[in-house]
Amino acid sequence: MSIYDTVHERSLTEAEGFWADAAADIDWQKSWDQVLDDSNAPFYRWFSGGQLNTCYNALDRHVEGGRADQVALIYDSPVTDSKRSLTFRELRDETALFAGALAANGIGKGDRVIVYMPMVPETLIAILACARIGAVHSVVFGGFAANELATRIDDAKPKAIVSASCGIEPARIVSYKPLLDQAIELASHKPDKCIILQRPQETAELLPGRDIDWDDAISRASPHDCVTVDATDPLYILYTSGTTGEPKGIVRDNGGHAVALHWTMKNIYDVEPGEVYWAASDVGWIVGHSYIVYAPLLHGNTTIIFEGKPVGTPDAGAFWRVVAEHKVACMFTAPTAIRAIKQQDPDGLLVKKYDLSSLRSFFLAGERCDPDTLHWIETKLGVPVIDHWWQTETGWAIASNCLGIERLPIKAGSASRPAPGWDVHVLDNDGHDVAPGTVGSIACRLPLPPGTLPGFWQANERYRQSYLTRYPGFYETGDAGYIDEDGYVFIMSRTDDIINVAGHRLSTGAIEEVLASHADVAECAVFGVADALKGQLPIGLLVLKAGVERDSAAIVADVIQMVRDTIGPVAAFKKAVVVARLPKTRSGKILRGTMRKIADNEAYRAPATIEDPIVLDEIRESMQGIGYAQET
Ligand code: COA
Ligand code: AMP
Repeated sequence: MSIYDTVHERSLTEAEGFWADAAADIDWQKSWDQVLDDSNAPFYRWFSGGQLNTCYNALDRHVEGGRADQVALIYDSPVTDSKRSLTFRELRDETALFAGALAANGIGKGDRVIVYMPMVPETLIAILACARIGAVHSVVFGGFAANELATRIDDAKPKAIVSASCGIEPARIVSYKPLLDQAIELASHKPDKCIILQRPQETAELLPGRDIDWDDAISRASPHDCVTVDATDPLYILYTSGTTGEPKGIVRDNGGHAVALHWTMKNIYDVEPGEVYWAASDVGWIVGHSYIVYAPLLHGNTTIIFEGKPVGTPDAGAFWRVVAEHKVACMFTAPTAIRAIKQQDPDGLLVKKYDLSSLRSFFLAGERCDPDTLHWIETKLGVPVIDHWWQTETGWAIASNCLGIERLPIKAGSASRPAPGWDVHVLDNDGHDVAPGTVGSIACRLPLPPGTLPGFWQANERYRQSYLTRYPGFYETGDAGYIDEDGYVFIMSRTDDIINVAGHRLSTGAIEEVLASHADVAECAVFGVADALKGQLPIGLLVLKAGVERDSAAIVADVIQMVRDTIGPVAAFKKAVVVARLPKTRSGKILRGTMRKIADNEAYRAPATIEDPIVLDEIRESMQGIGYAQET
């Protein structure tokens, strides 16, 4: 048996011993009573009875343990032309002070705090300050519109919101404060306080009594110590797209999360404490939570917060400049970023411009990595390029080449083999394992390892119904794919309406809800079509109400603007077309999958139950008008 096989097998057959060993690397205030508490299966809890503080483990213990003067955080911002470094001591002190400011404003253990911030050091400080006082943070990505923020405010019911006057996109300043004000207006729940970081690029007007300037808040605060919490207490809620417009509040606990994320740094990414680790993502996404904030700091690594883009800030060499300048040992990003770089620098001339000798490995996730992209970056960098698969729900990789355990051969198109702790199966409709190489629904046998979701925020029944019901004893991932003869996992598509646009997870159902709310729209369909840069892009088909005489182009422009205003620019919804009718089965099911195949020029067979096959020809013609279904 290979080393990987031995480790993986032990992680499943002796799960409690395996994770108890990993937990020894975390500082506990009180040891756990039980490693795995299965008394309420299928809801499992890890390290119940244990007590700790996640911020203490991420900052204070490194200060006390000899890393006080090591850089903990590098802020590199080509969009503002500024850079800043904070040592573990400085980051601890600034975090303790902001924690004091939160406490002085009435925030305590268990209270929720929404963080709606751009990629600046204060965002990490706010997140860690919440963890320090046992408050539950919920970060909302800056590219979402007010309505999405309002939905999250109503679900999380935060006592406070931490935000900034603005974010900076290469082409424009994003005024966060008006979006925040609008969201609070829309929401039924109102936060008591908003702490606003005023950025020099654009200052915001503050509402007396509710809004507090970040600088004022900390100037009056005194440092706050770490508050002991239960291992099973929530650390954060991160909302992610579900199959409707109602996002799912994924909960993360403190104990299992700290144990698992710390473990991944050596075992999956093969980095040593003290090295520089860079996840080029956004703190608004799970990759940012796990690998910009928590895992590197828990493990004593230097992390980077990069306020820029892979291209255009100023060029397609931005990533390589950062790697060279800060001596990054391990980097992580989404395939879409590499496709963007490759498009602008196909020969990799900008890669050659920098000394990348510090870089040992390069990880990709967030969407399927096509073999061309994988091979291109592999050749240009000359280091192992590892595609690994995970989800907001899981918090860390379900399948990965675990470089710190044993480097397995790389197979392009595969996320490698299941990570320790993960018992991955491919199931047919009846819940039976399929033969190697056969596509099916991918499900993981319960219990999931530590660091994964214990449930949804105050909606565990919804969690059970969405993930645990179809295959009893398993967590249904929502991904479809296969496992080959060598045990390699290939993720091919989703089994639901979720699409991945530039590594951002979106629900086509949520976009449809917006289109359907237009006064002239009778019905609609949204699905993801292939895109060379972003992987997938949503397109919309609209059927108008009888008697509507407005120009179709004006209605299309309306719905595009509505999606931007309701969901946000990140949805990248730019194409829609009016059609006479939608293809349906006789029972009324809209054939989105068939339309997607037509748009992408894939072979398809109209289902026998189709109401009227002629509609498919009409749809093809309409889609040609917006640049799809070009060949017959
Ligand atoms: N705040 C406000 N607006 C934001 C935003 C933020 N934090 N992030 C993105 N947006 C806006 C962009 O300005 C853009 O608006 P536009 O329609 O006015 O141009 C829109 O949302 C889409 O943004 P994006 O997906 O970034 O597309 P892009 O065309 O600007 O850039 C890439 C394309 C490939 C360079 C970019 O998508 C990218 O860097 N992707 C990596 C994704 C990633 O790291 N994912 C995390 C998972 S690992
Ligand atoms: P998110 O929750 O935003 O991280 O999105 C999770 C989804 O992204 C997964 O369920 C997959 O559909 C997709 N995904 C993430 N990583 C990969 C990968 N390496 N290969 C294929 N799909 C991936």
